[in-house]
Amino acid sequence: MTNIAFIGGGNMASCIIGGMLANGFTAQQIRVSDPGEQARDNIQATHGIVATGDNHSAVADADIVILAVKPQVMGPVVSDLASSLNSSCAVVSIAAGIQISDLQNWLGDSQAIVRAMPNTPAMVRQGATGLFANPLITSQHKESIQAIFNAVGIACWVDQESQIDAVTAVSGSGPAYFFLVMEVMQKVAEELGLSAQTAQQLTIQTALGAAQMASSGSLSTAELRQQVTSPGGTTHAAIESFKAGGIENTFREAMSAALNRAEEMSKEFSS
Ligand SMILES: NC(=O)c1ccc[n+]([C@@H]2O[C@H](COP(=O)([O-])OP(=O)(O)OC[C@H]3O[C@@H](n4cnc5c(N)ncnc54)[C@H](OP(=O)(O)O)[C@@H]3O)[C@@H](O)[C@H]2O)c1
Repeated sequence: MTNIAFIGGGNMASCIIGGMLANGFTAQQIRVSDPGEQARDNIQATHGIVATGDNHSAVADADIVILAVKPQVMGPVVSDLASSLNSSCAVVSIAAGIQISDLQNWLGDSQAIVRAMPNTPAMVRQGATGLFANPLITSQHKESIQAIFNAVGIACWVDQESQIDAVTAVSGSGPAYFFLVMEVMQKVAEELGLSAQTAQQLTIQTALGAAQMASSGSLSTAELRQQVTSPGGTTHAAIESFKAGGIENTFREAMSAALNRAEEMSKEFSS
């Protein structure tokens, strides 16, 4: 049985634990540590797991340790934990901007480490997580870590750590891009005369339906778009207007801005 310890029992830890318990992991496999009484009470009330305030005891028999604290406190938390870690365990950081080299500085060069970038739809088990491993990660570690993040959506491994910044620009920040598009569609739908409720219902269901069609995988997104775009029709008129407005460049610039900010943040947190 793989034992998994969470350091930090806040929002992200709680949502991953919820997904794990719904997907075959057991409460006996999971340990949680958090200094806050309220966070510990919340973990117990939500998941039936008694959390501790002692990080060292939480990791004592852990095969996988998930660091789910804010990036700002990661250095002191990890440095303090280093001596208690089992040498064969894998350490997974979900903190934005914390690099493998920082974790190695705090944990030493012989620790297996994974950097993960989950996103907020993990809260509804529709998350998308990017994962990067250092060379010390075993295939068994990888399998267990993949199963943990699959419990809250899908997870993809990337080959280079720099690609985690690209993951941040695509799926980390991506939910907000779709929220923005939906927000604008709702606003314009109201301007076109629909009630706020109808505008909201139609927009959300359209986003959901389009995402489900795209995720069925039978056709590419370009093919799906072409399929509903008859020459001279209404959708064609809208798509041509988007293109004339420079939609591709707007997204390229926005996602490049997210990537640049992710790179800057990595430098800010770097020890
Ligand atoms: N939320 C997201 O959508 C998201 C997405 C991707 C990545 N992440 C990453 O996930 C991490 C956690 O985010 P979150 O939203 O779950 O934050 P959160 O709700 O604030 O959870 C962090 C928890 O860690 C606790 N903590 C503080 N110091 C600790 C220590 N020394 N030992 C153990 N626990 C300690 C905090 O307690 P106090 O509140 O008492 O300080 C808090 O309960 C962050 O690094 C973030 O970058 C989050």
